[in-house]
Amino acid sequence: MKKNDPSASLRVTPEGYHTSVLLHECIEGLAIKPEGVYVDVTFGGGGHSAAILEKLGKKGKLFAFDQDEDALKNAPDDKRFTLIHANFRAMKRFLRMHNALGVDGILADLGVSSWQFDTAERGFSYRFDGPLDMRMNRFAEKTAATVLNTYSAEALQKMFGEYGEVRNSKTLARAIVDLRANQPFETIADLKVVAEQHRMGETHKYLAQVFQAIRIEVNDELGALKEFLLQSTEVLNEGGRLVVLTFHSLEDRLVKNYIKHGNFEDEPAKDFFGNIKLSLKANNKKPITASEQELKQNSRSRSAKLRIAEKI
Ligand SMILES: C[S@@+](CC[C@H](N)C(=O)[O-])C[C@H]1O[C@@H](n2cnc3c(N)ncnc32)[C@H](O)[C@@H]1O
Repeated sequence: MKKNDPSASLRVTPEGYHTSVLLHECIEGLAIKPEGVYVDVTFGGGGHSAAILEKLGKKGKLFAFDQDEDALKNAPDDKRFTLIHANFRAMKRFLRMHNALGVDGILADLGVSSWQFDTAERGFSYRFDGPLDMRMNRFAEKTAATVLNTYSAEALQKMFGEYGEVRNSKTLARAIVDLRANQPFETIADLKVVAEQHRMGETHKYLAQVFQAIRIEVNDELGALKEFLLQSTEVLNEGGRLVVLTFHSLEDRLVKNYIKHGNFEDEPAKDFFGNIKLSLKANNKKPITASEQELKQNSRSRSAKLRIAEKI
């Protein structure tokens, strides 16, 4: 893959499943050793995985994770590759099972794939009508409908406020609780009616915030990310790379703080003697974002922020 070659940075995976974001930058960030062991915890359409495999030699290994069974069909037939159908919050346990503790690089490209987002029945997008689902893992019990029909007004308010930064989260939560007393929420259209009625500001932005909040809750995205980050420093070899691509500020803040402070707070944790012990060193102070060219080719790269760190 040549640097600055546009075709190298745009990889559309099988049947247009997903266009990999910041592909070249992620691969460069992993600093791949041909005989190393790598983990792609968000396999999706397999674009990043394919690029990692291209850099690996015969003895190199790649383990990938995805909790969505739809992604499994994209698995390459390659002896160096193992796809694990599981949540990445269990990364360490599965790597141990595969005798693969001590890895040289881990990549996470967070959020949903274009396939998930653009498939109406998955219920992720307000552009379609469909069931209120939003589960990445369709074996999980909690759907968007469960959240809207069973959470208390206080819990809904907290979710919309914290995960969607919805300004009138209390009003929206109350309206949902009042409406569901007559008729439970079943479809995207049901949710859109109430959200549009109570929207503040631009409709699309408001819907995006509301949908983002519910999606984060349904999939416990921030909980999974925290567990994954804590395990990443336990399974990386010294000098190994952690490469994380985020798509909203809540995720980016967790990644940034974890790299900088070894926890999820704004300050480093100190031991009894006041010493700070860090496991990661940031490669870039500011996150890497998509180039003008990539933005033109793939609008979904718009909010991407890439952080790279090295295990010390
Ligand atoms: C943005 S896509 C990744 C696209 C991929 N890098 C590519 O180039 O095609 C994110 C994928 O990660 C999966 N995913 C998200 N969170 C996950 C988690 N906690 N555990 C396992 N898979 C997850 C989603 O199901 C989705 O398929």
